[in-house]
Amino acid sequence: MTSFLELDPNDLGVQALFNVMTGSIVPRPIGWVSTVDRVGVLNLAPYSMFTAVCAKPPTIVFCPSYQPPDFKEKDTYKNIAYSGEFVINFVNDDTVKAMDATSADALPEVDEFKLAGVSPLPSKIMKPPRVAESPIAFECKLHELITIGLPSGGGHIVIGTVVYMHFAEGIYTDDNHIHFDKYRPIGGLVGHTYAHIYDLFGV
Ligand SMILES: Cc1cc2nc3c(=O)[nH]c(=O)nc-3n(C[C@H](O)[C@H](O)[C@H](O)COP(=O)(O)O)c2cc1C
Repeated sequence: MTSFLELDPNDLGVQALFNVMTGSIVPRPIGWVSTVDRVGVLNLAPYSMFTAVCAKPPTIVFCPSYQPPDFKEKDTYKNIAYSGEFVINFVNDDTVKAMDATSADALPEVDEFKLAGVSPLPSKIMKPPRVAESPIAFECKLHELITIGLPSGGGHIVIGTVVYMHFAEGIYTDDNHIHFDKYRPIGGLVGHTYAHIYDLFGV
């Protein structure tokens, strides 16, 4: 019989908890979030605390934590709190390196599309542009912001309603499914480690 190591999360520090959470909850999809700040600078950053909530209205969540070491708010969070608008760009084999580059703690005045060498394409409804190289993009309107915990380890839940969807040619099938072979999504594991999603099986 397997023996188990038992842990009370109250006994762990922030970094250990982060390692346990991100190492256990895998793979996570990555929401590559584009926003615009008050003066029009484009911002782009990956968030793997990201998932779907429900289908109708189409709703997603992602979670910007506070930024160590001084626990300031991340630019993505500030821009959404101000504007209520963002785009979730999806990541595949072709865009994983550019996505990873945008996790740098860039100053707010840095255009992270330029930093990552990707092109902004105008969105249909929302002000933030989408990433032209992304296979799928969801334009989102802020539904609600929820804060969890204290800055020293806590974060926010951003709940967004999807108001418009973009699919690169060939990815959306005639029977309303997503063609995984064309999409070639990747999963986030721990830190800067990712998984290809090639070996599909049904049970
Ligand atoms: C693959 C990956 C996933 C990430 N997921 C998150 C996340 O879910 N929440 C978070 O707060 N930061 C996450 N980060 C770190 C942010 O991307 C990083 O702090 C970034 O600088 C934030 O940018 P911003 O200040 O422009 O929003 C992730 C980084 C990587 C590489």
